[in-house]
Amino acid sequence: MNLRWPDIQPVLGGGPVTLRSWSTADTEAVYIACQDETLQNFTRVPSPYTMADAEEYIVSASAVWQARSGVNFAIADATDEVIGAIALQNIDESERVSELGYWVADFARGQRVARNAVELLADWGRDELGLERMILKIERENTASIAAALAAGARPTGVTRDEEYRGIVRNYGIYEI
Ligand SMILES: CC(C)(COP(=O)(O)OP(=O)(O)OC[C@H]1O[C@@H](n2cnc3c(N)ncnc32)[C@H](O)[C@@H]1OP(=O)(O)O)[C@@H](O)C(=O)NCCC(=O)NCCS
Repeated sequence: MNLRWPDIQPVLGGGPVTLRSWSTADTEAVYIACQDETLQNFTRVPSPYTMADAEEYIVSASAVWQARSGVNFAIADATDEVIGAIALQNIDESERVSELGYWVADFARGQRVARNAVELLADWGRDELGLERMILKIERENTASIAAALAAGARPTGVTRDEEYRGIVRNYGIYEI
């Protein structure tokens, strides 16, 4: 093992932006947040998004942790309400590299939730887990996500070829943190 996996998934941050593991009690909040059209357009969540999708997502989060292939965090506010999701995905242990993705519920946007969450996760991923790089793949039209990534300290490193997704040809920028 090249990475320093703790036995238990940690809680990161605190107060208005806390990253913690998912619980089945969060299922409905995930279902409601994932109805948002912008979220469905810019992420790979299923569309349409059903309650079964939310249930499966929360179950898979703990399987992913057990397999050491990624880490999924709920973003919770000071009252422990779910306001978003952030994850390290496709962790490559030997290269010490991972992908990083996120969404914030529409009612919680514009309050630096994404920026803070990316900073918290990137710090943990690098300083505690031992990753060298976390890669963000962001659609060029996704102004909000690009702004949040840059504000958190990510830097642009390239672009991908056009990709068709949900019937739309998309261009992505690659960022690293
Ligand atoms: C992208 C997303 C996560 C941003 O979340 P957020 O919590 O509203 O973002 P933040 O408030 O942390 O914004 C961080 C910075 O970006 C800026 N920003 C946010 N939205 C912006 C927008 N639409 N246009 C320009 N700048 C924007 C903020 O002003 C802030 O800058 P600052 O810290 O210098 O003031 C959210 O809009 C979302 O969930 N969208 C749908 C899903 C998605 O696109 N996920 C990412 C896929 S790559």
